[in-house]
Amino acid sequence: MAVCVSIINMKGGVGKTTLASQIAWQATWKLNKKVLLIDLDPQANASQSVMSPHKYVSYLDDGGLTVADIFEQFTPTGTATGSPQKLDPLKAIHRRVRYKDGSLLDIVPSRLELSWTLRNPTGKETLLARFVAKIEERYDLIIIDCSPTDSILTDAAYHCSRYILVPIRAEFLASIGFPLLDRSVKAFQMRHEDKTIEVCGLVFNDFNRGNVKREHRLAREDVQDKATKYKWYVFLNDIPHSDSYFRAAREGMPIANTKGAQTKVKDEFAAFASEFFGRIGL
Ligand SMILES: Nc1ncnc2c1ncn2[C@@H]1O[C@H](COP(=O)(O)OP(=O)(O)OP(=O)(O)O)[C@@H](O)[C@H]1O
Ligand SMILES: [Mg+2]
Repeated sequence: MAVCVSIINMKGGVGKTTLASQIAWQATWKLNKKVLLIDLDPQANASQSVMSPHKYVSYLDDGGLTVADIFEQFTPTGTATGSPQKLDPLKAIHRRVRYKDGSLLDIVPSRLELSWTLRNPTGKETLLARFVAKIEERYDLIIIDCSPTDSILTDAAYHCSRYILVPIRAEFLASIGFPLLDRSVKAFQMRHEDKTIEVCGLVFNDFNRGNVKREHRLAREDVQDKATKYKWYVFLNDIPHSDSYFRAAREGMPIANTKGAQTKVKDEFAAFASEFFGRIGL
């Protein structure tokens, strides 16, 4: 059965999508695992990065299903009968790559229309978990890329997940979303005593590897303090800034195989990834 991890931070632009895609790639490419990446953000950045913007648009043009169809599968469709249609879960999964050894990277893409679910969320928070239950035996790891807001989509992610990974930037107000995340996870856990969900760690992303500026140092100390308060683990391996992540996203590539990425950048990501895989028992 797959281990499922949601990547969450209510703060935007901290590297959730970058890490979701790169962790998914690393597990497939280096650990030879079967991986499913679920894009749970209407911005669909993970979809465009892993599939490439061009293939993503063709996928939508060809009527490919997305995570929005999972949430809206029982919504009357506006057809003549107005009857809901049964969704074949496999039709919402796009195969990005499958290697000879059986390892693979699949993705459930997203689309802007997922924001409809946010407008009309009643009764939809368990639909993603029901989808995952149907397909999870095909995978070793499921990664969910979440949007930077606490909504029905976050609850839907909690319903599927064993762990939460929190990327952070060492900057002013880095820990601003922590109380909200803590409350949100605890409230979910209280409402669903049969589930176990925990923050597997906070990882510092995208910091300047040169002189660690005073502001960065203060932000790190603040994050470390709050992490201790909430009993959250802070990963020992950070992910420094590298323009190669941008290139990796643009080309839909693992950082380990991105042209021009320095060996130390690949090694730093690999070190974080192996610490992360250890934490989630992969
Ligand atoms: N380690 C890094 N080095 C360099 N650039 C990075 C790094 N991590 C992320 N970025 C860049 O920072 C920007 C924001 O990253 P990303 O989209 O992953 O954040 P996000 O948390 O998913 O944002 P959102 O909250 O909007 O979903 C992107 O342009 C990405 O390429
Ligand atoms: Mg994102």
